[in-house]
Amino acid sequence: EKDILILAVESSCDETAAAVVKNGREVLSNIISSQIALHTLYGGVVPEIASRKHIEAIDGVITQALQEAGVTLEDIDAIGVTYGPGLVGALLVGLAEAKALAFAANKPLVGVHHIEGHICANYIENKDFEPPYMALVVSGGHSHLVYVSDYGKYEILGRTRDDAAGEAYDKVARAIGMGYPGGPKIDAAAKKGNPNAVKFPRVFLEEDSYDFSFSGLKSAVLNYVNKQKMMGEPIVPEDIAASFQQAVVEVLVEKTIHAAKERGVKQIAMAGGVASNSALRETMRKACEKEGFYLSIPSPILCTDNAAMIGCAAYYEYMAGVRDGFDLNANPGLKL
Ligand code: KG4
Ligand code: ZN
Repeated sequence: EKDILILAVESSCDETAAAVVKNGREVLSNIISSQIALHTLYGGVVPEIASRKHIEAIDGVITQALQEAGVTLEDIDAIGVTYGPGLVGALLVGLAEAKALAFAANKPLVGVHHIEGHICANYIENKDFEPPYMALVVSGGHSHLVYVSDYGKYEILGRTRDDAAGEAYDKVARAIGMGYPGGPKIDAAAKKGNPNAVKFPRVFLEEDSYDFSFSGLKSAVLNYVNKQKMMGEPIVPEDIAASFQQAVVEVLVEKTIHAAKERGVKQIAMAGGVASNSALRETMRKACEKEGFYLSIPSPILCTDNAAMIGCAAYYEYMAGVRDGFDLNANPGLKL
């Protein structure tokens, strides 16, 4: 059988990325040009700057992805591209580029949902991994519990009602002076802190709900920091980081295990930038071991934004017959 090669493009936030993926699961190249250092100056992603930087980077990133894979545009079977959700101006850059390439080389265009891409990252290193499974998707923009019954079949059981998990990490990091992006900084600081130093709330919401809420926890951390300052008491950033992280991780793990049990699935997968968090990975691993679930977690580089995951998702869409027209538009609030 003929190999299927997908050229994938991702530009939904602050990473300009392109990849070539063979038969859905074999990554021939995975190029990521990160703007993080630039946005760090502003304490977060500035949408207008992100769009402009994508325009500067995208041609080079795609050329490099094709070169490293040892292929030309002619060899490609389809072009996959993220069309939402994300920053609209950022999405439009990747989408316009993908459309132009598809038009010029006469190749099919396949639009990909960014969250579906994150979930599909689990198929790349884990060649035998297949649905059904329960997926915990935790990133800077999303916190979803998704029941994946088959390829391309997603049922959202729960979502955040306010801040996403990564957003909470970023906001708490800013409050304790750790800078952007907060996730990796809190992850590192927490290793030197005591997770039981401060009792922060665990927000489980209603008993039967799989939704999340992290803004109350974020406020609790901010209130604690302000109170300590006002009373002239010391603040130990490592202890705050560890205690905050523990509160996030406990809720994420417990809800995921509960959902997996309720749906009777045997496998759990994690995805999104926060899935690279060492405490979450470790706690979920222990819980899955204890409860008898198989656990899939992509390498950290495939958890944060990349185009290999988009290529994988595009492959399964392509094989299912999905083809998009040149009227495909960026959709910042795209639903799964
Ligand atoms: O998936 P992603 O790269 O972009 C979105 O689609 O949002 O996720 C980025 C988020 C940021 O909020 C970042 O702080 C968080 O993932 N993150 C982490 C870690 N690495 C990245 N959060 C906790 N621990 C980490 N090690
Ligand atoms: Zn993402």
